[in-house]
Amino acid sequence: MKSIKFLHISDLHRGGSWRVEPIGDHKDSAVSGLFAETIVSPMESDFIESIKQWQYNHGNIDAIVCTGDLGDKGNSSRIDEGVSFVHKIQEALGINTANVLICPGNHDADRGQSPELMFSGYCNALSKFSFTDHRTDDKPFFINGIPFVVVNTSLGAGEKSVFIRKYIELVNGLSDSDKRSFEEELNNAGVQYLDDSLDIPVVTNLQRQRIKKAISDTTSSFVVLVMHHNLLPCNMVEIRPYSSVIDAGKTLDDLMETQKDVLIVHGHVHFSSSSIIRRPDRMHCISSVGTGLFNGRTGSSINIVEVFCSDDGQHFITVVYEYIEQINGLQFNKSTSICDKIEKDSLDGVLSYFIDNPGIGAGFDEIRTAVGCSEKELLSTLLLNGSLFNISRNKSSNPSQWIIHRN
Ligand SMILES: [Fe+2]
Repeated sequence: MKSIKFLHISDLHRGGSWRVEPIGDHKDSAVSGLFAETIVSPMESDFIESIKQWQYNHGNIDAIVCTGDLGDKGNSSRIDEGVSFVHKIQEALGINTANVLICPGNHDADRGQSPELMFSGYCNALSKFSFTDHRTDDKPFFINGIPFVVVNTSLGAGEKSVFIRKYIELVNGLSDSDKRSFEEELNNAGVQYLDDSLDIPVVTNLQRQRIKKAISDTTSSFVVLVMHHNLLPCNMVEIRPYSSVIDAGKTLDDLMETQKDVLIVHGHVHFSSSSIIRRPDRMHCISSVGTGLFNGRTGSSINIVEVFCSDDGQHFITVVYEYIEQINGLQFNKSTSICDKIEKDSLDGVLSYFIDNPGIGAGFDEIRTAVGCSEKELLSTLLLNGSLFNISRNKSSNPSQWIIHRN
């Protein structure tokens, strides 16, 4: 049994110009110092303390997965600030530098540059803190034996502006200098025109080939895909320019041809809570709200994802601990499971075991033998019926060391 716990953060948007009521835009020099001192700093401490507390209760986190938009509008010092904060979290939690996986978001691309130079600032920021740039790996990166593949979906950053400007000119006959009036028209009509979102999210042919080969070559049947934009339709409806990659259909085809279970971990969406999707086509998805709380943006959250995976990767269970920002930092909100199969027979067996053996805790393996189910089935049963059972695991990820109690 392989297992991993990783912290999923995303969309830090450091240095972004979110407004903080009642003091307004914190980029305003009159309030920026005040903002940093009274809001950002305590929030950062609360944030890190909340995760440390989680570690204390649930066991060490093995890795950090950051799904992009560390900075804002491609500004290199903002990207530096974002990566520096990831480094701060990594040090506070005692996580190995090699176990920090980062992918770029559209805000980490310098939109004015050619595709070759667009991510120079991002790469420099990673190297300052000795983080590895996994964008072009032709093999998965393994943490605790579980394969991760990093994808850059931000190669189309800046492209959409070309189309929108053309649209403006064709439809309205306005030149660039008249753009403001067009924006005002849109605003008056209640349509948002966001200059900083003018990007086309795309995986690209070359990356699709690379990902498919990397995933096909692993012996594991379970792979984690790390990307900024969403690949799957999310289970929320919104009217904003936060779309899936434009070649999502082709990418899904390629992934499904590998016949593996793929857990897609992404950001970008800025929803009001994390979205967790399990699909019958073996493409599963965890999205993050965005950890932009340091810009005063509300509704931020993180995920702590725990994956249990059989040695051949054939069976896996993912438990997501979703944290939502509250008044005083981050508070535990709920846990959700994505599981490859729910075994009703197994649940009936475990319940009758406790009817026959009331009042005492029992070892995981003891119950498994008595019920006659597989390790995966018993894990699914316990994790998906959390209200019925209490697991004393003394921070161990090895189920053989767990003691199960019937609530
Ligand atoms: Fe984004």
